[in-house]
Amino acid sequence: MKLTILNQKGSVGKSTVTTNMAYCLSVSGKKTLIVDMDPQAHSSVIFCRDIPRNNTINELLSNKSFKTGDVVRQAVAGEDEQPVENLFIIPSNIHLAITAEQITTKIHREKLLYNHLKRIEKDFDFIIIDCPPAVNVLTVNAIYTSDVILIPTTYGRYSLDGIADLFQSIKEVKEEDDFAYWILRNSRDARTKLSNAFVEEQLAPFKKNLLTTVIRRNEAINQAQMNNEPVMIFEPRSYGAEDFKKLTREIIKKCPK
Ligand SMILES: Nc1ncnc2c1ncn2[C@@H]1O[C@H](COP(=O)(O)OP(=O)(O)O)[C@@H](O)[C@H]1O
Ligand SMILES: [Mg+2]
Repeated sequence: MKLTILNQKGSVGKSTVTTNMAYCLSVSGKKTLIVDMDPQAHSSVIFCRDIPRNNTINELLSNKSFKTGDVVRQAVAGEDEQPVENLFIIPSNIHLAITAEQITTKIHREKLLYNHLKRIEKDFDFIIIDCPPAVNVLTVNAIYTSDVILIPTTYGRYSLDGIADLFQSIKEVKEEDDFAYWILRNSRDARTKLSNAFVEEQLAPFKKNLLTTVIRRNEAINQAQMNNEPVMIFEPRSYGAEDFKKLTREIIKKCPK
């Protein structure tokens, strides 16, 4: 199951969801691979000792003959950077921005990631792809290869602005009107009742595609990201850890065996 975490907006929780959900999946015994498609490398900083210079997503996208398995690393996490069983990552770094420019003119540029993952995907239960906040050649590669698109959204006034454009881009890449997607409500603050009601109303037309689990706004999640750790390690008893465990159970349930 290949899941792309997508939203052209920044700061909606794409990297937070990628890293925490992938970690929870691995703890649940699911062999999981994170693919970091964002030059900002926010997922890579959490699960790599240092941001790697070589054997990253850059090599895969620039060279179709590059051995795919050579960029897959064992994830490490926590202060003592212990290997995380069942969790692997294809990291990115800042050079991915340049790579993206270079591959924009290639033919079949949208299939570069797909063709590489094809060689290794049977080795994993889940592949989670973290995207940059843009619709560009990197996100197009992520969309093309994904089975399901997971769209995190927050509770702001403009949180759903641009979603129609996003759907249009997905349809163009997939070359079909029907594609699988789930919307994840992130960062809900129980105190802001009126804004919550406003966003829930905007989401009503997408009811079929709404995940039941809502991730609450929780300071432990934020602190964990700053500390470069999954929230389940940083503060296992937090609401954040609880919500991500619940989300992971829901995702596992929704996936065909
Ligand atoms: N549920 C949440 N509660 C508190 N902070 C959150 C939550 N989700 C995300 N954040 C914080 O919001 C910021 C943006 O999240 P991030 O995952 O980096 O967004 P994106 O990848 O979409 O740009 C980060 O500082 C993160 O710690
Ligand atoms: Mg991010």
